[in-house]
Amino acid sequence: MCGIIGYIGPRDVSSVLLGGLKRLEYRGYDSAGLTIKSPEGLVTFKAVGKIAELEKKVGGGNLKGDLGIAHTRWATHGEPNEINAHPHLDAKGEVAIVHNGIIENYYALKDFLTKEGFKIVSDTDSEIIAHLIQKFHNGSFPEAVAKALELIEGTFGLAVIQREENKIIAARRGSPLVLGLGEGEMFIASDVSAVLDYTKKIVYLNDDELAIVERDGYSVKNLKGEEVNKKVYEIKWTLDQIEKKGFKHFMLKEIFEQPEAVINTLRGRVKEGKIKLSLDLDLNSLRRIVIVACGTSWHSALIGKYLLEKNTDIPVEVDYASEFRYRDPLVNKNDLVIVISQSGETADTLAALKEAKAKGAKTLGIINVVGSTIAREVEMGIYSHAGPEIGVASTKAFTVQVIDLLLLALFLRQEKGLKPEKTIINDLEVLPEKIKEVLKQSDNIRKLAKKFVNCKNIIYLGRGLNFPVALEGALKLKEISYIHAEGYPAAEMKHGPIALVDKNMPVMFIATQDGTYEKILSNMEEIKARGGEIIAIINKEDKRISRLTDNIIKVPSVSNELMPIINAVPMQFFAYHVADLKGIDMDKPRNLAKSVTVE
Ligand code: M6R
Repeated sequence: MCGIIGYIGPRDVSSVLLGGLKRLEYRGYDSAGLTIKSPEGLVTFKAVGKIAELEKKVGGGNLKGDLGIAHTRWATHGEPNEINAHPHLDAKGEVAIVHNGIIENYYALKDFLTKEGFKIVSDTDSEIIAHLIQKFHNGSFPEAVAKALELIEGTFGLAVIQREENKIIAARRGSPLVLGLGEGEMFIASDVSAVLDYTKKIVYLNDDELAIVERDGYSVKNLKGEEVNKKVYEIKWTLDQIEKKGFKHFMLKEIFEQPEAVINTLRGRVKEGKIKLSLDLDLNSLRRIVIVACGTSWHSALIGKYLLEKNTDIPVEVDYASEFRYRDPLVNKNDLVIVISQSGETADTLAALKEAKAKGAKTLGIINVVGSTIAREVEMGIYSHAGPEIGVASTKAFTVQVIDLLLLALFLRQEKGLKPEKTIINDLEVLPEKIKEVLKQSDNIRKLAKKFVNCKNIIYLGRGLNFPVALEGALKLKEISYIHAEGYPAAEMKHGPIALVDKNMPVMFIATQDGTYEKILSNMEEIKARGGEIIAIINKEDKRISRLTDNIIKVPSVSNELMPIINAVPMQFFAYHVADLKGIDMDKPRNLAKSVTVE
């Protein structure tokens, strides 16, 4: 996620800004930049990749200035390159801005500015803010910022500087922003960690507040221009605690970020019961869909198969990218090949995509990292908007991949003239709240994890849409706790794996109520009859399964299509707590990399 740091004071401005950016690195980013107000005017440096690249461009010590702003960018509009990196300046180089958030009326504002003769050079939504402020700057700099913000719909955490002004303006709506108070110096940041090396005195801006920050003081107003009294907080957290927002690990933080990730993924895509995706697909010539992916993304692909076939009547195949690429696959111009990848850099998935393109198939990507190699190679795409996922075990990326696949299925259904079912649309809206209910179970699941922490093997079973969830649960456990785990369709047990069941083999059932509930109950009886210990994820209203086992995780009900998301969360917690109890650093499990860029 993007990060902001601003500084006004006597220290070497570029060192403070670069130091602050380094503190924000943990949030994930793909490019960075800074602007300093120097005697020569506004001086800007930008670089793609690590802060070290930016540092090289800035050079050591020769850049003198009074104040500056800097940014780490996690691309949402436009690929990661120097033009799209922040800060953005107006054409005259008078105003520089750094912005976190999304401007929802970006296209309308861009048209408005273009008609007025302003030249927009980047693909970002943020750049227009600089032009608007420059346009309105006619005396008072803070007023020009406030006027520009009046026109903006969407979210912003914003810091602005102007060539002639010895102040930084900061404003917030929806994207966090703080002021760091020093002696004869002031800081602005999107995240306390960026300023904690210098001060522990922090003022948190609220939505629709604008701060005027000068070397010796600050004032905060609301967007109507009224003064606001702000409380100063003394920060006691360590830097490490802050980067993980107080969570012990990134994985845990990312599990808890899932409601927000769902909101971001749905934003602007469901309106008045309709699905809005900008995809150029000719359904008349579409014969088949093939989804290729690896690991967790392959599991979401399996769920996608159910969702797409049910809603579109188009046959869907799912393949491991590593198999697809080498088996001379039978795909052609009448096939749509969907590639799913969190990182957008997975070597097998990229190679599968190239193979599909070479055979003339249409290609669509479901990718989290904007501007990644796969995102650039596909013909069309749906970005996931999970935000950066730092823990090696994929959690929130899985959740939003399933949402994207459901949106795609409903969109294609709509293109065929059929309305999406109302209950699904309603349930999508309440999904973040339902996930929050599951998040409250973390402590209960830890108790279960304690009971099973020493087991050597575990089987995960589910049916229908919950079969891929069983696979995902098993993958989560094995990759971070090093316990051997297998996922199976529950009915397959009797064709072999049931021979493994005894008192030392726990079996995790995903047993929420859908069309196969009665069958799952029979599968549970089979396990119980053989002495196996059952753990079950059940709907909170369910009374029957509680009679078969005490190892119960209760979850709320939503439409069947969304239950895989609800059911995956307890699995993530279970794997996390087992790994933590074993003392494993699950953010960096042995032998694994976050993005697998080799074969
Ligand atoms: O970035 P991708 O989605 O392409 O990554 C695919 C797999 O490498 C990834 O999902 C992996 O299985 C995760 N460690 C699972 O938690």
